[in-house]
Amino acid sequence: MLNNDQLAEWDRENFFHSSTHLAQHARGETPTRVISSGKGVYITDRDGRRMLDAFAGLYCVNVGYGRTEIADAISKQAHELAYYHAYVGHGTEASITLAKMVMDRAPANMSKVYFGQSGSDANETNIKLVWYYNNVLGRPQKKKIISRWRGYHGSGLMTGSLTGLEFFHNKFDLPLSGVLHTQAPYYLRRENRDMSEADFTADCAAKLEAMILAEGPDTIAAFIGEPILGTGGIVPPPVGYWAAIQAVLRKYDILLIVDEVVTGFGRLGSKFGCDHYGIEADFITIAKGLTSAYAPLSGSIISDKVWKVLEQGTDENGAIGHGWTYSAHPIGAAAGVANLNLIDQMGLIDNARQTGAYLNNALREAFGDNKYVAEVRGEGLLSAVEFAASSAPLTFFDPAQKIGPSIVAAMAKRDVIARAMPQGDIVGFAPPLCVTPAEVDHIVAVAKEAAHEVLSAL
Ligand SMILES: Cc1ncc(COP(=O)(O)O)c(C=O)c1O
Repeated sequence: MLNNDQLAEWDRENFFHSSTHLAQHARGETPTRVISSGKGVYITDRDGRRMLDAFAGLYCVNVGYGRTEIADAISKQAHELAYYHAYVGHGTEASITLAKMVMDRAPANMSKVYFGQSGSDANETNIKLVWYYNNVLGRPQKKKIISRWRGYHGSGLMTGSLTGLEFFHNKFDLPLSGVLHTQAPYYLRRENRDMSEADFTADCAAKLEAMILAEGPDTIAAFIGEPILGTGGIVPPPVGYWAAIQAVLRKYDILLIVDEVVTGFGRLGSKFGCDHYGIEADFITIAKGLTSAYAPLSGSIISDKVWKVLEQGTDENGAIGHGWTYSAHPIGAAAGVANLNLIDQMGLIDNARQTGAYLNNALREAFGDNKYVAEVRGEGLLSAVEFAASSAPLTFFDPAQKIGPSIVAAMAKRDVIARAMPQGDIVGFAPPLCVTPAEVDHIVAVAKEAAHEVLSAL
């Protein structure tokens, strides 16, 4: 076995990492962490250090690490047939079975699923299909997409544009034209402090409508949003938000893409965020929880309404000009089938609901009275604690103080992994859906100790 120093050297010399300070890493100023195994909610690095992963990788290892049922399914598939494509009507037993399983779980108005590899490419597919849809309907000018500030939809050219976080735009010449961002549904950070939550929801809907009218409703094709803002801060929507937004979209015949890359398959304690919040989607984006990240696989679930127009389009124009070599990859599909079965067998959606409520209560108890905590929030197993210099009046810390990242680093020192969300001093929690109340107690105790260490030094 190679020792870590050798790997660290190879890493610095050869490996371009995502979301990493490239220069510091190449100079060896930031550590290389080599993860070598995982079991349940724990991962272990090559130095033998075992850590409780309270963010499930990138909120994706929903069934937990080391599930032999999925590993065996992948191995069996690789032995029998590692690859065949999905072009011109081809499929495999695994991809067809997974399509059936996804559609059995999807909301009733949905019709078909297109499989890709990542959340980003699934959203690219969605946008292309939105444009295709409006071309088939003879509305070539109806093409702009409205997203939200603080939304996260990927980091490709289109999806990085849809993402509403400056970090993903700066110096990349994004967003592309034709992508607009409306107000984030983030009640804590409302400008008008006197607004009730219901007033704020009405304001979000009014701002959306004003944007549509200013641009011209005939130019707006779709709205995209996550049921709960994820990477933008883990923020459940204000009361009545999705009903109010859907009313505006219906009024102007605008399609709704619900990005369930994080929330799909149980994280909120419901099958989908659409079920959780009463959202009727035209497209649902799925990825992470589809395979619990045992293999890369994503999907675009398409509604009956959109599907009918896609069929009409191919009757008029011939086969659809869209596809990836790895669409519906059999190994990803085999992982997906085993993963969705495991979610059912282990009762993980119920556990997400019950243990999620336990986590949210425990965080409220631990942090509710902390004068540096502006909000504790969450839904199912997706929670956050937002820190601020003062809650009343609400004053955030100077980002240069790095309060959120320091708390997460102090937790990591204690072998518990949480995530410093990229915009704000927000510590995020999204453990595997198999987490137990005892493990939650440990996560919360460590978070409290770490926050104390950082905040008592202020
Ligand atoms: C809501 C949401 N959409 C899309 C994506 C992009 O997925 P991927 O990183 O697989 O491209 C993510 C990734 O975190 C996400 O959270």
